[in-house]
Amino acid sequence: MPDPGPSLSELIDMQIRANGPMSIASYMTLCLTHPRHGYYKQTDPLGARGDFITAPEISQMFGELIGFFCVNLWQQMGEPRSFTLLEPGPGRGTLMQDALRVATRAEGFGDALHLQLYETNEELKAQQAIRLSQYDPYWPGEIDAVSDDPLIVVANEFLDALPVRQFVRGTQGWHERLIGLKEGRRRFGLSPTPIPESAMPEAVRAAAPGEVYEVSLASVDVMQRLGKAAARRGGGILAIDYGYPRTRTGETLQAVRRHEFADPLEAPGEADLSAHVDFGALAEVTRKAGLTAQPLVTQGEFLRRLGIAERATALSRANPGEAAAIGAALDRLTGANQMGELFKVFCAASPGLVPPGFAS
Ligand SMILES: C[S@@+](CC[C@H](N)C(=O)[O-])C[C@H]1O[C@@H](n2cnc3c(N)ncnc32)[C@H](O)[C@@H]1O
Repeated sequence: MPDPGPSLSELIDMQIRANGPMSIASYMTLCLTHPRHGYYKQTDPLGARGDFITAPEISQMFGELIGFFCVNLWQQMGEPRSFTLLEPGPGRGTLMQDALRVATRAEGFGDALHLQLYETNEELKAQQAIRLSQYDPYWPGEIDAVSDDPLIVVANEFLDALPVRQFVRGTQGWHERLIGLKEGRRRFGLSPTPIPESAMPEAVRAAAPGEVYEVSLASVDVMQRLGKAAARRGGGILAIDYGYPRTRTGETLQAVRRHEFADPLEAPGEADLSAHVDFGALAEVTRKAGLTAQPLVTQGEFLRRLGIAERATALSRANPGEAAAIGAALDRLTGANQMGELFKVFCAASPGLVPPGFAS
């Protein structure tokens, strides 16, 4: 049998011994996307038997309403005869399959559609290829692969998978939280070099010693690139995730393994690492790119405004034997104690467009 080589845990520890403590972002990047051992490079993590379950895997209603959202935006954009629909992190392709089943009923939508899927996991890519083959999808190597036609982006639980850095407020400024080794075990510690207050966003400058500021430069980069592309070509970005509306202090890095919270420093590559999304920072980036950012809404509110209750009633009428399961899915997607309040919906679109599901 070929030598499997060092495990990810050993590789990380070797790197720390050679280079000193590493940032949380570097650690997350290795854990999630290391070419051989990264969590998202391995098998399918989704669903009841995986580590977590996502909204489109709970019910077809979720994707169907996003399909309606896409048609509505495309119509407001003047029904361009060619446009790109991009989904970063499409998982099993379930959301897009449900969305396009509905959206392609609108005349002209299917003919105009160029479907792009941005994905790192080969097994999930294979599932996407099967589910979405009839739409002839393309997997770009870069999230903002050049194309000149209008752009609609839909991302569910993608941004939370991008790495974050953490900074802890000290008495002399901010110190980056790093991962080092103590007595042979990985431990969190602080960089001794303070970062001046002026380098931090204004929203966190009044923080008390000990408070933590978390920032995802990778999310900001993705939103900047997509925001510029959508502003130049016309269109909009819809992102659904757990997160908060304004930049603030607070630490949210978490590890989930087989539906249970776990220690982020244990078993690298075997647990899903994620962090809540700073939608305030992303709104600012998209505004600077030339888009209009909508006030953030909760997932429950967004789905209700798009008519999820009516869709659940219609589905239950058509499938009376499934009515209880449909009711349970409705509750799970929109209930205040379930996904309805925790998950937020962000949208930034070309000025003049009125994305459905938002207050304005
Ligand atoms: C939490 S899953 C969500 C899947 C799907 N959107 C859903 O709602 O079921 C995250 C998705 O993003 C992909 N992903 C994570 N990090 C990525 C990266 N850096 N580049 C591209 N895709 C990534 C994963 O492989 C997976 O498809």
